[in-house]
Amino acid sequence: MSRSRPLSLGSLPVSDTNLDLVTGAFSNTGSGIAQRLLDEGREVRTLTFHPERAHLLRDRVRALPYRFDDPVALARSLEGVTTLYNTYWVRFDHRRVTFEAAVANSHMLFDAARQAGVARIVHLSVSNPSLDSSLRYFRGKAQVEQGLADVSVPYSIVRPTWIFGGDSEVLANNIAWILRHFPVFALPGTGHYPVQPVHIDDVARISEDVAHAEGNVIVDAAGPERMSFEELVKAIRQAVGARSRIVHLPPAAMSAVSRALGLVMRDVVLTREEIDGLTGGLLVSAQEPRGRIRFSDWLAEHRASLGRAYAHELRRHFAGAAPA
Ligand SMILES: NC(=O)c1ccc[n+]([C@@H]2O[C@H](COP(=O)([O-])OP(=O)(O)OC[C@H]3O[C@@H](n4cnc5c(N)ncnc54)[C@H](OP(=O)(O)O)[C@@H]3O)[C@@H](O)[C@H]2O)c1
Repeated sequence: MSRSRPLSLGSLPVSDTNLDLVTGAFSNTGSGIAQRLLDEGREVRTLTFHPERAHLLRDRVRALPYRFDDPVALARSLEGVTTLYNTYWVRFDHRRVTFEAAVANSHMLFDAARQAGVARIVHLSVSNPSLDSSLRYFRGKAQVEQGLADVSVPYSIVRPTWIFGGDSEVLANNIAWILRHFPVFALPGTGHYPVQPVHIDDVARISEDVAHAEGNVIVDAAGPERMSFEELVKAIRQAVGARSRIVHLPPAAMSAVSRALGLVMRDVVLTREEIDGLTGGLLVSAQEPRGRIRFSDWLAEHRASLGRAYAHELRRHFAGAAPA
């Protein structure tokens, strides 16, 4: 089966090789996008730091390593690709993997796509990125978007709020894990700041939809439900049958608690910048929601399994073949 809608480069039709490349197809959001494309009969290639990771799509997706050390090899890995779906990013600085390096790597990836003749780049950004942001995640995302606009390949930018669902989902899962294991759950600040979670399948659908856009487009990917963070935590608490008392801490104290939990878990649980993004109300969209799957419905469906095991971010990205 081939694409139902024609590809376009401005008004010129572009030949479709039926091959797309999704970065991180053995990780979280990339896996959702890759699955959707495979279901439509497309061939999928991926770039990853973990080509050997055990994953449902391992046998169906050809995996190549990210070659940020070699721009020529990187461009070669994109040869024959019609659409590049880019999910590559980092959540926090760790060892040599910094936001600055991630911005530079993203620009290198876009340039490699241009050299390889990729017809369109669908890029996963974040809601409310800003070049003026004091938060490096949101500022770095804005810098990557700017680099993409300069690269002269048609592009579609998808800006998700907070992604839930999928096999390796971290945030909602670990909130549930903490609620299941601790008598007290700490919230930064008032807890009244809004969140608007979007399901991974909606992000995949929106990403695939905008791959067929005319010209360059930028869209938010946000779910149909908006709630306060405290309401979200309480909904998870009720769903998993926990009884933890919810307490409010100033962001600095919350950051210290997260660091302490991180030491125990040997992980990074929630960074100070993530706390500031959350309390600053950045994980919402001002647009009409494109997501259809309700967080509350998903929660009801996954209440038995959610938070049974802790999702370990550092182990996931830095064990085995660690990124350079
Ligand atoms: N998760 C959310 O709630 C959320 C919200 C808004 C926007 N987004 C954006 O959506 C995209 C996908 O998010 P995701 O959470 O699903 O990402 P992910 O699957 O965990 O990772 C996406 C890609 O980035 C690579 N990567 C992740 N952390 C890395 C690190 N520390 N060092 C080197 N490479 C790393 C992964 O490498 P491997 O292939 O080796 O695993 C993978 O190829 C990202 O651009 C993210 O910024 C996510």
